[in-house]
Amino acid sequence: MQRYFRLVLFAAVMLVVLAIPVAAVLARSYFLAPTAQPVKAQPIQFPHQVHVQGMGLDCTFCHRGATTSAQATIPALEFCMNCHKIIPWEGRPDLERLVQAFQSGQTIQWNKVHQLPDHVHFVHAVHLNFGFQCADCHGDVGSMGKPGVKQVRDLRMGDCLTCHQQNGARTDCSVCHY
Ligand code: HEC
Ligand code: HEC
Ligand code: HEC
Ligand code: HEC
Ligand code: HEC
Repeated sequence: MQRYFRLVLFAAVMLVVLAIPVAAVLARSYFLAPTAQPVKAQPIQFPHQVHVQGMGLDCTFCHRGATTSAQATIPALEFCMNCHKIIPWEGRPDLERLVQAFQSGQTIQWNKVHQLPDHVHFVHAVHLNFGFQCADCHGDVGSMGKPGVKQVRDLRMGDCLTCHQQNGARTDCSVCHY
């Protein structure tokens, strides 16, 4: 009995010790505001700053769906290569990855920065046609360089509802859930 008691005690202590880091990881992903999440790692570090501030490209030059549909969308590699086939890439790891992926017919799997659960319905076009700017929800993306985009606004249910109330938009559950 004595032997088993020590074994059980040991197991219990180990469980508690192991539970602390697990709980910390879970708390980080589930309970922290999305804006407190670290910048997501991307297969290619895409600098918005170079393309937006540096070259003066419009957001919708690349995110073509934003004003017409639900998804803003991220352009395919062919689109990037319109410019990048004539820009030197040797010795620049991010551009080497871009060109190699294109030449071998691969696609880039961008990690989602903003991600609502599947049961929530969001439509970019309605918000932009109402007169909001990208920056109202995404902040100053044009000045974000490497490593990548960071979420700056909460964009959870309370935040959606507050803005809907302030602007006379519908707030019944079926607007966003169906
Ligand atoms: C030259 C093309 C290009 C332009 C111009 C551009 N973007 Fe992007 N954008 C991308 C690419 C590629 C990604 C994916 C990489 C990433 O998330 O860092 C991205 C990612 C994003 C994301 C994160 C998407 C997610 O996963 O949640 C947001 C938000 C965004 N862009 C907003 C903007 C805004 C606002 C502007 C204008 C100020 C803009 N973009 C201009 C190419 C572009
Ligand atoms: C309108 C032309 C144009 C388009 C479209 C474009 N880029 Fe660029 N990109 C540039 C220019 C110009 C530079 C700066 C090159 C330099 O510094 O020599 C650049 C720089 C970059 C860099 C930084 C390279 C480094 O080593 O710092 C990355 C990464 C990049 N682009 C990825 C992309 C991706 C991914 C897409 C498609 C979503 C894209 N670009 C679309 C013109 C473009
Ligand atoms: C009213 C707030 C709001 C505005 C305004 C807004 N977005 Fe978004 N955006 C969101 C939300 C919320 C998500 C996450 C959607 C999801 O997970 O289904 C998102 C996701 C994205 C994504 C990644 C998924 C996708 O739809 O392709 C990109 C890229 C993006 N936004 C770009 C833009 C650009 C560019 C503009 C301006 C032309 C813009 N957004 C304006 C709230 C907004
Ligand atoms: C910056 C303010 C703002 C934020 C933030 C915002 N919305 Fe909206 N939303 C509006 C306004 C205003 C309208 C009404 C547009 C109209 O009537 O033309 C609207 C309309 C909508 C519609 C279309 C409703 C319809 O009648 O078809 C949906 C769906 C929606 N929002 C979902 C969301 C979700 C989900 C979020 C949070 C992730 C969100 N919105 C965040 C202001 C906002
Ligand atoms: C303007 C958009 C909007 C409206 C209206 C809305 N919701 Fe939500 N709801 C969201 C978003 C965005 C999320 C996901 C983010 C979060 O958990 O806050 C969500 C999440 C939820 C969740 C899941 C919470 C969780 O922990 O995963 C429930 C349950 C819910 N909503 C119920 C409702 C009910 C009931 C109503 C009507 C009284 C309602 N919602 C109206 C946007 C909305």
